[in-house]
Amino acid sequence: MTNILTKTTGIAMYMTAGYLNEGDLAVDATCGNGHDTLSLALAVGKSGSVLALDLQKKAVLATEELLTLHGVENVIVKQENFVNIKEAAQREFPGRQPSAVIFNLGYLPGGDKSFTTKKEDTLAAAKAALELVRPGGIITLVLYSGHAEGAEEKAELLTMARELPADRYHAVYTSLLNQKKDPPEVLFITKKK
Ligand SMILES: C[S@@+](CC[C@H](N)C(=O)[O-])C[C@H]1O[C@@H](n2cnc3c(N)ncnc32)[C@H](O)[C@@H]1O
Repeated sequence: MTNILTKTTGIAMYMTAGYLNEGDLAVDATCGNGHDTLSLALAVGKSGSVLALDLQKKAVLATEELLTLHGVENVIVKQENFVNIKEAAQREFPGRQPSAVIFNLGYLPGGDKSFTTKKEDTLAAAKAALELVRPGGIITLVLYSGHAEGAEEKAELLTMARELPADRYHAVYTSLLNQKKDPPEVLFITKKK
């Protein structure tokens, strides 16, 4: 077995997939190069579905290419701002609620580093995702505090999470403690049944 705890994205997906069953709906709010989307698609199986969003055309194309390469057909990929996550999910999958929503924040690896997620949008989208996700589901946010916008984004998301009512949500924050620089961290929020 690989050591899941050495990589933040591995921790994020391992936990997220734990909330997914065959046939479920999952949302990747920032599909980027498509790696998380692919993992979600495999976790929900052929009878399940994934909605993948990204603001950049380049990311949409990269995700579609990766899915094609793996013969995955249960994903709808849209070039769309994640602030519209609720509307997009209700439009593409009317009457359904996702069991998991993942946000991998920051910039597109191998892309324009100045094109990064913005704290106001991210906060609004995270709140919308909390409404959207089904009771018993999870939202996962991979946080990058190594750049200025990312540090502020992380601070705002953690404040929001700390203030969530404990009778409705369960917020958990993981951090790699002995790594150099600023390794990514993960915020998990589960919605109680
Ligand atoms: C770290 S990358 C995502 C990596 C991806 N999950 C993967 O597995 O390859 C962050 C992505 O967020 C996207 N993004 C930034 N702002 C966004 C927004 N408001 N709505 C949707 N996507 C956004 C960027 O275009 C970028 O592709």
